[in-house]
Amino acid sequence: MTKSTNIVWHQQAISKKERSIKNGHKSCVLWFTGLSGAGKSTIANSIDIVLFERGIKSYVLDGDNIRHGLNKDLGFSEIDRKENIRRIGEVAKLFVDSGTIVSTAFISPFRGDRLQVRNLFNKDEFIEVYVHCPLSICEDRDPKGLYRKARNGEITDFTGITSPYEAPLHPEIMIDSSEVTIDESVQLIIDYLIDKKILNE
Ligand code: ADX
Repeated sequence: MTKSTNIVWHQQAISKKERSIKNGHKSCVLWFTGLSGAGKSTIANSIDIVLFERGIKSYVLDGDNIRHGLNKDLGFSEIDRKENIRRIGEVAKLFVDSGTIVSTAFISPFRGDRLQVRNLFNKDEFIEVYVHCPLSICEDRDPKGLYRKARNGEITDFTGITSPYEAPLHPEIMIDSSEVTIDESVQLIIDYLIDKKILNE
């Protein structure tokens, strides 16, 4: 809901196009989605290292970290997750506007919420990366011990256990993290960015 009135959009002096020419690459959001423990943050950070080393402007927004600050007022109900994703979508849009390749690592379990974010961007700027991993493997990995707590009833609304995950139907990139290595996943994404002319070879 819009509460603010009497506000007027201010056109910025430097355009996204000008920034991209100066940077030598385009900007976009790599929107990672998948279960907790699927490997979203790991792959997002690995791609960040590769992009950084190539002199590309990149950044990672990570669910667990953002929930310590900007979104610390939000929990895991459906309505809070929706707001979590809405805010991140808006922040990601600012990063894209600034000329950055921004990787977002949020479960973002609901298709409708992801579609709303997609609609904030131009075509080709929003790249949905589905990090698929069978629930049983995520549960085996359980890097933060949260699946165990969820099974014991110590955490409610836990994605995959007591809260749904709606898998993307047509992601731009799909990675099965139980089948491919992190390096292979990173290469797949870099190849995609080159193919779409976001990066040069
Ligand atoms: S989202 O669903 O709103 O996109 P987000 O990615 O920000 O979730 O946060 C997920 C992270 O919060 C998980 O990786 C996990 O570490 C932690 N977490 C804590 N409680 C829950 C819960 N009930 N469901 C899912 N993740 C949870």
